Amino acid sequence: MEVKVVTGDISQIDADAIVVNLFQGVEQVSGASAAVDEALGGAISSLISKGEFKGKFGEVSIVHTLGKLPARMVAVAGLGKQQDLNLDRIRGVAGEFCRSLRKLNCHRIATILHGAGVGGVEPGACAEAIVEGAVLGLYSFSRYKKPDYEDIREMVIVVREQSTIRVVERGVHEGRIMAEATCLARDMANEPANYMTPSRMADIAKEIADKHGLELNILNSEDMEAMGMGALLGVARGSSEPPKLITLGYKGDERSEKAVGFVGKGITFDSGGISIKPSEGMGEMKDDMAGGAAGIAALSAIVQLKPKVNVTAVIPATENLPSGTALKPGDILKAMNGKTIEVINTDAEGRLVLADALSYAVKQGLSPLVDLATLTGACRVALGNGYSGAFTNNQELLNEVMKAADRCGEKLWQMPMPEEYKEQNKSEIADIKNTGNRYAGAITAALFLSEFVDNTPWVHIDIAGTSLSSKETGYVVKGATGVGVRTLVELALSLAG
Ligand code: BES
Ligand code: MN
Ligand code: ZN
Repeated sequence: MEVKVVTGDISQIDADAIVVNLFQGVEQVSGASAAVDEALGGAISSLISKGEFKGKFGEVSIVHTLGKLPARMVAVAGLGKQQDLNLDRIRGVAGEFCRSLRKLNCHRIATILHGAGVGGVEPGACAEAIVEGAVLGLYSFSRYKKPDYEDIREMVIVVREQSTIRVVERGVHEGRIMAEATCLARDMANEPANYMTPSRMADIAKEIADKHGLELNILNSEDMEAMGMGALLGVARGSSEPPKLITLGYKGDERSEKAVGFVGKGITFDSGGISIKPSEGMGEMKDDMAGGAAGIAALSAIVQLKPKVNVTAVIPATENLPSGTALKPGDILKAMNGKTIEVINTDAEGRLVLADALSYAVKQGLSPLVDLATLTGACRVALGNGYSGAFTNNQELLNEVMKAADRCGEKLWQMPMPEEYKEQNKSEIADIKNTGNRYAGAITAALFLSEFVDNTPWVHIDIAGTSLSSKETGYVVKGATGVGVRTLVELALSLAG
């Protein structure tokens, strides 16, 4: 979708649809909506007075212009209550009206900056939110089945004053980068596991590195052997797909040797291994590389936004399958940092591959570290599909991550890391075991990971509940959500010196 910014009066724009708005509870239309209403002989006012349109958040109503205006139709977007308006709602509104208009065969649409003006939102941020919401809301995974609609090809953003054009264009640029990176992560996670193998993930990382000039390093199993990555290799043993440890580096601050590390779980299919999962819903486990996809995608956005900071993404990628060579319950593995791990359950493979990836990141001197992983069903049970769980050994860092998440509308909820629960991970015959008891599974998994980060400031984000959506709402569509990409990008921007 092409996005253009023009100055003028939206009612005079020739497009398939022009989009105006209304706050909930407002009975008198104002601003751009009023001009359009007048040209239509009060059609919008009548929708309100007859109770057909209430302005609820996400509501979209259509009025045909029948030649009274150059545009074929007018869409009125509900912004919800004025006091509840924020950037995330603006993203959601954009996603909703774009999908509605696409269904109505609109190819060229024009919109005002919803929330700027009386809403009081700064025009640049507003444009960014609209483009982000539109691109994310219009996303579909269409590689294997053609959709039954045509794409919206152009969105014209109509602003009142010439003086705001530059900030609005900047917002459009940033919103598009954020959204397209998120769509890349969605594409990777939606792709079935027979295509999205560890090697394919490495190829995508290479394509991005070549296109934008990032440092790339891919370790194969011999390299992993040489580095003592017994935990990652243990998981990979059951599969005939070769594992890859993908490192993608962005150098935004030439004068500094330091780099932030993003570590993403890249299990391209999680069958559970010998501790095999029930078959119902197992197909969802093609998404078990969503954290890794987010790490790669975040770097693709960061390199375009060019913050003055160094960032390296580390992605341990492998399948978790049962076979004659597979890891077995009872096996003991030795991780790169020298710790021995008793495998109680081969389905707790995420923490095994992350044990080596985090040890590797620490050895590379990356700091602080943020890992993103579809790690535990327990986190989904605890927080549902709306919130990712956040864990840390450094409250200040987590506060920064929370602020970054808040800016992009990704919801995080901090979980505790009580020292006394470490008891659950104690093994009789190794340094640690890979599962605790039935309770606090998300926490014991985080405590396990904490054994592999040394004293490095670290945040772990469990996205098991948030990486997939079963609903289409706002800028979220069914399937992979691309969660984490925008938070990581925002964090990199905020850490830039
Ligand atoms: N990839 C799963 C976690 C998961 C579950 C993600 C549901 C998304 C939706 C992870 O590898 C796993 O299997 N975890 C086990 C751990 C258990 C064996 C301690 C789990 O949560 O059941
Ligand atoms: Mn598993
Ligand atoms: Zn898994």
